[in-house]
Amino acid sequence: MRIVYVNGEYVPEAEAKVSVFDRGFLFADGVYEVTSVLDGKLVDFAGHAARLNRSLSELEMRAPCDEAALLDIHRNLVDRNGIVDGLVYLQVTRGAADRDFLYPDAETVPTLVLFTQAKPDLKDPAKARTGMDIITIPDRRWGRRDIKTVQLLYPSMGKMMAKAAGADDAWMIEDGAVTEGTSNNAYIVKGNTIVTRHLGEEILHGITRAAILRMAAEAQMKVEERSFTVEEALEADEAFVTSASTFVMPVVSIDGKSLGNGAPGPVAKRLREIYLDESLAKAV
Ligand code: PDD
Repeated sequence: MRIVYVNGEYVPEAEAKVSVFDRGFLFADGVYEVTSVLDGKLVDFAGHAARLNRSLSELEMRAPCDEAALLDIHRNLVDRNGIVDGLVYLQVTRGAADRDFLYPDAETVPTLVLFTQAKPDLKDPAKARTGMDIITIPDRRWGRRDIKTVQLLYPSMGKMMAKAAGADDAWMIEDGAVTEGTSNNAYIVKGNTIVTRHLGEEILHGITRAAILRMAAEAQMKVEERSFTVEEALEADEAFVTSASTFVMPVVSIDGKSLGNGAPGPVAKRLREIYLDESLAKAV
């Protein structure tokens, strides 16, 4: 049985407990991170830890422990569960307190939960070879998407809409422009130029995005960080998404219209290779 971490203890998943008064449960008053594991090591742990701290401070939420202790818990869980390729999910909530919209006093102990998910095909999932079909949906999330909160109901609805349409995922549209995917950052490629939305409160500042933009620049590819419309995306040569759980995943159609020749494009393929190589070399 999987061993999970809850508030200082490593316990079998069936014995793990969180209070019914936990503000994560009652108010979605919590933030999270997903860090990938390759060959038993953590990919870009420092990036995820830094973003977690930013999410916590934007919400005036106490950090449950320091970065070194977090790294220790991540590594312990990976070892105890024998994870080779997979993910570590981390969630911090403001803790348990009697139900009140106002934040409880600062002494309230935050809840810290971590668990692993084994993903044996993480390095080479079938979709990386065939590419994803995506649909577009309106972006109906709240306005602070740069904070990685656990309010994931709309992204969840978006994935269900994609499934109902026979697609793999959805890109969200606001004021005519693509914000991002339901759980990933979105990119289009035209010629030698990669376009992805600029950072701001409208999207999550992807840890994979930051790495990919750096790698693209190092590989002499041109990068434009700006809004793009669905119309522009439909005219693109190729498209892809990035996230800690998919790395670089090609997109081959948008709203039923094939991009390029309908197969994963060379830029997405190349960036996926570079990302995997570098991540494997630098994982901790
Ligand atoms: N999702 N945008 C959104 C809305 C996301 O939920 C995610 C990550 C990303 C990519 O961020 P990163 O490269 O740091 O993983 C962008 C995670 C994987 C999830 O919810 O499972």
